[in-house]
Amino acid sequence: MAEKKFSVVVAGGGSTFTPGIVLMLLSHQERFPLRKIKLYDNDAARQKVIADAMEIILKERAPEIEFLATTEPAQAFSDVDFVMAHIRVGKYAMRELDEKIPLKYGVVGQETCGPGGIAYGMRSIGGIVELVGYMEKYSPNAWMLNYSNPAAIVAEATRRLCPNSKIINICDMPVDIEEKMAQIAGFKSLHDLEFKYFGLNHFGWWTSIKDKQGNELLPKIREYVYKHGYNLKYLNGDEGVQHIDPSWIVTFEMVKEFAPIDPNTLPNTYLKYYLCQDEIVKHSDPNHTRTNEVMEGREKKVFAECRRIKAVGTAKDTTIEVDAHASFIVDLATAIAFNTKANMLLIVENKGAISNFDPTAMVEIPCIVGNNGAEPLVVGEIPQFQKGLMEQQVSVEKLTVDAWINHSYQSLWQALAMSKTVPSVRVAKLILDDLIAANKDFWPELR
Ligand code: NAD
Ligand code: G6P
Ligand code: MN
Repeated sequence: MAEKKFSVVVAGGGSTFTPGIVLMLLSHQERFPLRKIKLYDNDAARQKVIADAMEIILKERAPEIEFLATTEPAQAFSDVDFVMAHIRVGKYAMRELDEKIPLKYGVVGQETCGPGGIAYGMRSIGGIVELVGYMEKYSPNAWMLNYSNPAAIVAEATRRLCPNSKIINICDMPVDIEEKMAQIAGFKSLHDLEFKYFGLNHFGWWTSIKDKQGNELLPKIREYVYKHGYNLKYLNGDEGVQHIDPSWIVTFEMVKEFAPIDPNTLPNTYLKYYLCQDEIVKHSDPNHTRTNEVMEGREKKVFAECRRIKAVGTAKDTTIEVDAHASFIVDLATAIAFNTKANMLLIVENKGAISNFDPTAMVEIPCIVGNNGAEPLVVGEIPQFQKGLMEQQVSVEKLTVDAWINHSYQSLWQALAMSKTVPSVRVAKLILDDLIAANKDFWPELR
């Protein structure tokens, strides 16, 4: 029998992460062979810069793989096995407002957490539902592996709006932290260890980290984390290629400040926005936020390098690096395509896996992945501290989706007021009214 080869469309072809993902796909041809890579975006000019460079890279390194970049849904979504989605509805211009509007009122301004995450969620839902519609129309057997943020709100929205769709929502942060944990514990790779984790997306905790002999390593890793967080600087560890900007290093180090609140677990970095909210605001510059850093850094670098490749007509000496963390997406595609039953951390409906938590919540927990998708593993009971925090945060996410579906001002006000990052209903309303004005081209009209 001929070897099965796959066809993939990357939705959000103009993303700063597209070159890293394409190179990563090329570097995994032996386990996930491709016959076609397509890029799809609704911004033709932005996508073209990336696509021109990708075309050259593919011609040089894998001429047998067919390549196409398009803004036409029919072309993009026909004859595909996987949709790898990383769109940003509203692009960096809107992310900047998500961060700066809350900061005006002394509240955390972040891509996926607090009011900024809620605002981004209200923009993303429509874009993702549209992609799911295209996939089901043109390639009904395909799977969507979605990175588009805010993944928690997107996951809750697709659970309700597209309940029978083949979509799996994922995040690369836990994988990156696990890679760091492996190095802290003296191992080569996260694949040398076995992890237990539970939570929501950008809102979770590790409860166990074992080597293959079953030795519990959490206390040893905890010792390092209480001193340095997940900053590998004091270890001379390999920091990888993603999450290496100075502000990311500060984020990894800051874990040492809130990890000790529960010695039985180790936290996800994103919990800093909920557990150190005052300090985060104090150290934020309301005129220069992460978006500005990304535009001056990653975006500038990626687009300049793609333009350079096009100008010289070769990518032989390119500085674009394989996105190592994104190999997670190949692990997932491979698990579905070849029914490998790999154990992976995914965002799925709880359905009793966490026994003392809302069965309809979208939680981030270990799953077994095969050709039917993800099957959650039993987590059991979680402690009161985490349960309380998660109930509040999952309510924020559910109220946001309620607001989008019912065009409800009241639900969105409740979502903002419910967020642990927001001090009062009054401040919630002030932020909400600013966000409504800023998002008039993207949100449903609220009543
Ligand atoms: P980016 O702005 O560079 O790229 C996003 C692209 O999406 C743009 O080219 C834009 O034109 C396109 N787009 C916007 N709306 C669209 C729509 N409705 N249909 C098709 N294309 C559309 O953003 P980026 O910084 O590269 O990030 C891309 C996305 O990946 C973001 O959502 C980001 O949060 C997410 N991300 C998630 C993880 C994770 O852990 N889940 C990790 C990295 C990035
Ligand atoms: C991490 C998170 C993502 C986030 C990404 C990029 O990987 O898990 O959800 O989108 O960082 O953040 P940045 O601020 O660098 O654009
Ligand atoms: Mn993430």
